[in-house]
Amino acid sequence: MTQTVPDLESLRALGAAQQPTWPDPSALDDAVAKLRGVPPLVFAGECDDLKAKLGAVARGEAFLLQGGDCAETFEGVTADNVRNKLRVLLQMAVVLTYAASVPVVKLGRIAGQYAKPRSSDTETRDGETLPAYRGDAVNGFDFTGAARVPDPQRLVEVYHSSAATLNLVRAFVTGGYADLRQVHTWNTDFVRESPVGRRYERLAAEIDRALTFMKAIGADPDEFHRVDFHSSHEALVLEYEHALTRIDSRTQQPYDVSGHFLWIGERTRQLDGAHVELLSKIRNPIGVKLGPTTSPDDALALAAKLNPDNEPGRLTFITRMGAGKIRDHLPDLVEKVTAAGVTVAWVCDPMHGNTFEASSGYKTRRFDDVISEVQGFFDVHGALGTWPGGVHVELTGDDVTECVGGGEALLEDDLHNRYESVCDPRLNRVQSLELAFLVAEMLSAAQVKD
Ligand code: PEP
Ligand code: CO
Repeated sequence: MTQTVPDLESLRALGAAQQPTWPDPSALDDAVAKLRGVPPLVFAGECDDLKAKLGAVARGEAFLLQGGDCAETFEGVTADNVRNKLRVLLQMAVVLTYAASVPVVKLGRIAGQYAKPRSSDTETRDGETLPAYRGDAVNGFDFTGAARVPDPQRLVEVYHSSAATLNLVRAFVTGGYADLRQVHTWNTDFVRESPVGRRYERLAAEIDRALTFMKAIGADPDEFHRVDFHSSHEALVLEYEHALTRIDSRTQQPYDVSGHFLWIGERTRQLDGAHVELLSKIRNPIGVKLGPTTSPDDALALAAKLNPDNEPGRLTFITRMGAGKIRDHLPDLVEKVTAAGVTVAWVCDPMHGNTFEASSGYKTRRFDDVISEVQGFFDVHGALGTWPGGVHVELTGDDVTECVGGGEALLEDDLHNRYESVCDPRLNRVQSLELAFLVAEMLSAAQVKD
């Protein structure tokens, strides 16, 4: 049976949290009309492929690596920036795959991650109050009255920026850059000389030897030359996601073709709200962020609404409890969801429960807290006999100074050196690679236990 997607008015009537106050409704209608006519960014069949891979994650046969910026920016759509992000994700995936011998599903927070929920509708600096920055999809980052006015034309720019990014990503992953014989060349510049870079170099040398051996015996499968990589973002601005929801010609089912995987944020997961309603109707694989106030009943109700057929791979629960809370809050949730026979992939976001403001005023996170939350996640699943299905991280391929700690021992006093995020602090490339090695160790240990 074909799912019917409610029209935009009915969706709005349900109530949607975290929506911009667009000053000019007719300009919004124009942008939506334009978006309804543009070609899809992704194809429904690709979404189905990703859903099948996430089904393997839910069954405990694969591990998800989901990562990228907290907020992409239009200015950040450059070849260097996209390549650097992809490169660190490829390096992390190789570490996880090789060190833990588990298939890794690679999913970028990329090509669509332009809209942000905010804890406050306004921002005040030196006595001046303006609308909060809600991501490049909505308004400008500069703290001026003009920049902060929500402009729906930006939604059209989200589409074009996502298309340009995805085009480059597709070229990189299938056009030779992601070829496994390139493992050494991904390890460049500042990372190569770091201790974790040298550790990576040793692993890459082992992979090289294995590849040479495989080639010598005549095995050279396609998988050595290209990778599967998918895109994801938070489905936040209703007008954008609704305009890009289309009926797939093969199956007659609706898909949101703005990205392969869409998730519902911690602040917009109201059971009767517009976001849950819209995502319940599309056939993409989807996720929901679950913070520390989530009760098992909340999780069960979300699963019943979002995945009534209990289809493996359809629903991912991305928990973001905080390092100090995960060991208290996660067990009950996992236990009750599992006992109810609900099939989900469990993924750990060790970033969003661990943000704090440094004395200098920068928003930051401690690398040790991030690792501690992931360790808690593995320990809880280990104790319950469930599968720790993956990690969801905010990272960048550059040498930024946004999170403190890690092997380079970044201090709060270092944050100003290169703080570039327009929203939450991201792991830099060295910290990301360090995380990958630590998670690979946890993953190996989890399998030995099985
Ligand atoms: C995010 O992923 O950037 C985010 C805002 O997360 P959450 O909804 O978990 O707070
Ligand atoms: Co964030």
